[in-house]
Amino acid sequence: MFDLIVIGAGPGGYVAAIHAARLGLKVACVDKGALGGTCLNVGCIPSKALLESSELYYQNKKGLAHHGIQLGEVGLDLSAMMQRKAKIVQTMNQGIASLFRQHKVEFVSGAARLSGPGKVQVGEQQLEACHVLLATGSVPIELPGLPFDGRHIFSSTEALAFEKIPERLLVIGAGAIGLELGSVWSRLGSQVLVVEYLDQILPGMDREMAGQLQRLLQRQGLSFQLQTSAKGAEVTKGGVKVQLEGGGKESAETGDAVLVAVGRRPCADGLGLEDLGIARDQRGRVQVDDQFQTSIPGVYAIGDLIPGPMLAHKAEEEGRALAELLAGRPARVNYQTIPGVVYTHPELASVGLSEEGAVAQGWQVRVGKHLFRANGRAHCMDQIDGLVKIVCDAVTDRLLGVHVLGAQASHLIGEAVVAMEFAGSAEDLARTVHAHPSLSEVLKEAAWAAMGP
Ligand code: NAI
Repeated sequence: MFDLIVIGAGPGGYVAAIHAARLGLKVACVDKGALGGTCLNVGCIPSKALLESSELYYQNKKGLAHHGIQLGEVGLDLSAMMQRKAKIVQTMNQGIASLFRQHKVEFVSGAARLSGPGKVQVGEQQLEACHVLLATGSVPIELPGLPFDGRHIFSSTEALAFEKIPERLLVIGAGAIGLELGSVWSRLGSQVLVVEYLDQILPGMDREMAGQLQRLLQRQGLSFQLQTSAKGAEVTKGGVKVQLEGGGKESAETGDAVLVAVGRRPCADGLGLEDLGIARDQRGRVQVDDQFQTSIPGVYAIGDLIPGPMLAHKAEEEGRALAELLAGRPARVNYQTIPGVVYTHPELASVGLSEEGAVAQGWQVRVGKHLFRANGRAHCMDQIDGLVKIVCDAVTDRLLGVHVLGAQASHLIGEAVVAMEFAGSAEDLARTVHAHPSLSEVLKEAAWAAMGP
């Protein structure tokens, strides 16, 4: 008998399992796949490995003569690049296994099914616990006219492991996956066209920042067709022909590979939620209360299975909070301060409200901006593209949203998250001493600009 059985060993599940075990609970974690879930095995980590490798290749290919560095011919060994990615994943898999051993979390390999409250069936094995946590994540959404076939039409999973570089890659959806994997293959030599249904890339992100990123990506060679949707595809001799519709007109584009990245859906397939009567909303998301409890007492859910951004760190935070709650401690997740990062080059990171989002909510906003090209360190690093935009309440100066488009934005956004977590103001950021020379000064200067004259 366990205190807690966690179903799913992704960043939500494994963090919850380890944290609960640290707090003294007897924990089992079940997964039918490898430790680390989508994020570690076919998501965040392998994509970042390829983003790093492809960017290095791209930079070296362009040449470093302006640094005074002369290079010989730059070649590409795709299989070595893929092996490096696999090695990183393997190292992190082993890291989780070792944390499980260290904290005495029992890992059970297999597909789990809830056979009753507190009862989990894994093959022949019946496990029992006071609490069960569902953390089974999400899977890519398939478009009706473009089903994944593993040969021409792919999801992100396969696009992380192409054996050869597509000559022409069509990407459907300008979300994080489309832009990140589109960037990888574009840097490695593919001609990439990104097709997006809405009128901006990264819908939901600050419109101005998304527009700036689109301009930079176009300069790198990616093409975009906005307000266009993919309707269907047919395999021809020349590749896959994708039918598009935009502005009332129909057209077609042909590529040798199509990446469909139009979102993900919660995945609880085979868990037996219906038999137990666990309530879900129209989009298939498990409904939970503010303590992550489903409609069945003792059964909880976190991460991509429940509403909120489908992000590893959101799932992780929820997992940690749930472990604390089960151990009798107070815990909460602040959903207002969850950063989002798109790992293109440069990266786009953001926390809080976009300018238009803040206005739509009725805030009277003041905006401050500062460009990376006005920063000395950015010049030394040869990373002068981008800007920081700070949105604050015009009345109280409180930070409402911070947006960073620039080198190392994923790291820079951290201080804005902390400032917002403490209900900080633009003045708090502006009057905080920042190291000189450093990219963080761009944030500080944007904060000064947001404070007004
Ligand atoms: P997404 O929901 O972020 O973006 C999908 C895009 O596809 C949207 O812009 C949508 O308007 C567009 N779209 C939908 N149907 C279309 C059609 N028929 N034709 C053309 N465009 C269409 O989904 P994505 O990029 O697949 O990512 C899935 C989830 O994974 C998201 O929640 C994302 O936040 C998360 N993720 C986060 C990453 C990060 O934080 N760096 C990296 C990868 C994924």
